[in-house]
Parts: sequence; C-alpha cells; structure tokens
Amino acid sequence: MPRRPVSTPLIVANWKMQLGVAESAERALDLKTRLSGAKGRFQVVVCPSFLSMAGVKKALRGSTMKLGAQDVFWDERGAYTGEVSPVNLREIGAEYVIIGHSERRQLLGETDSMVGRKVISALGHGLTPILCVGETAHERNEGRHELVVARQIISALKTAPPPMGNGRLYIAYEPIWAIGTGEPASPEQALAMHDLIRQTLIELYSLAQVERSFRTLYGGSVTADNVNQYIGPKAYHGALVGTASLQPESFVTVIKHIDQGFTTKHL
Ligand code: PGA
Repeated sequence: MPRRPVSTPLIVANWKMQLGVAESAERALDLKTRLSGAKGRFQVVVCPSFLSMAGVKKALRGSTMKLGAQDVFWDERGAYTGEVSPVNLREIGAEYVIIGHSERRQLLGETDSMVGRKVISALGHGLTPILCVGETAHERNEGRHELVVARQIISALKTAPPPMGNGRLYIAYEPIWAIGTGEPASPEQALAMHDLIRQTLIELYSLAQVERSFRTLYGGSVTADNVNQYIGPKAYHGALVGTASLQPESFVTVIKHIDQGFTTKHL
C-alpha cells in the first residue's frame, strides 16, 4: 500500500454551549495572542455557539485559525423555525461544521438520516464537515461498537458525494463514554476504531479518494498529556477537544503538544 500522505493535524475546539457571547470573543482573542508567535504545522478551528460566531470571527482576524459551527441545517432557506442555514454560516465566515455530535443525537433526537442530509448540505456549500460517530458504553460492553460506528458512517455517507477538489471530510471518533468524563479511550481502542473507520470508508469510496479527501479525529477527554497517543502517520489526523479547549491556556498546551509530537513523528 502506498505511504499515506502527511497531513497537517487539525485541532478543533468544541465550545458547546459553555461560554457567553462576549466571553467567547475574549477567549478567541486570548488564543490568538498566545499563538501569535507559533510557527507550527497545525490548523486550529474554533467552534463557538452560533450567536458567538460573528464576534469570534472578528477576534480571529489576522490569525490562521478558522471558524467552525456546531451544527447546520440541510436546506438553504425556508420555513424552518430555529434552524441555521449553510448559506448563513458561509456568510458569517464559517469554514467547518461539526455534524451529528452525540449530544445532538442523544438529547435532540438527531437520526442517522438527518446527519446524512446535513453532511450533503455542508459539502454542497463548501463547509468542511466534521462528522461525529461513536458508541455508548453499553454498545461497547456488548461488543457492538464496530457495528454501530460502521452503521453511523455508512448511513451518513451513503448518498454523499466524496468531497470535491481539495475538499475534506473529517470523521471524528468520539466514544460517548469518553466525552467529558475524564476517561479517554485507550490508544488501542482508539486505533482499532481508526482502522475500522478507514476500512468502512474504503468500502464506500475508492482507496485513492479516501487518501485524498478523508481524515480522522479522535475526541473524548483529550488533554495535552494523552493527545499524542492518538495522532500519528498511521493513526488519527487530529483531535476534537471539548473541556480542554475552554481555557486558552490549556488549549494552547494541547496544540503545542500536538505540534511537538507531529514534528518528531515526521522528521
Ligand atoms: P471533551 O468533549 O473533550 O470534554 O470530552 C469532546 C466533545 O464532546 O467534542
């Protein structure tokens, strides 16, 4: 098999509904200041709440950090009270979007088919999807984790075209039992799922398409101390970070660890 291309690690901050509007802009500005001298080979994406996006975009101006959303609707416009259009997200400067996070699946009844429509919508509007998949503790204990995650990927992508041109689609493996619990997946568990994700993608697309357009992230209690166990040439291409991304100081430590680890692994 050809050697896999080296990709710049993607580090995504998922701020969920944890911060205020002004607070989000302040933290984005703080992050920009702390990272201003860094010449690392990494790409940071900040995903604040919808209402905080404009302020965060402004705060990130002049940095290489990108703006992401935490969700998107599948239609552009219409009678969809409370939903957010992919066109509006582009207008406000978003380039990435988290889709199908387990909190949305579990608390808001988002189904595989809704997730699939959102992925198509994002791709069609030039937003890079970060498709979240992951099993519950119960599903893992019953040995169904691989089936569950493969099903989530297949249902979300079966009608989706592969990303066009230089477009990318990220699959974020986030075991639900590891999110916000301080109990991350072991490197063995995470890497086994990385291989499963890759295999599932190869069944849906061609190997060349997977190599070119698909990347993976690990998420679930990521910290500076554990993140490099998941990222590498034969492992994940980056991380989706919740709790450890909320404080600029701790998020910058995660980013710097990834950068050092990446440099060492690719020298
Ligand atoms: P966590 O959240 O880092 O706090 O576990 C990750 C996520 O939900 O994306």
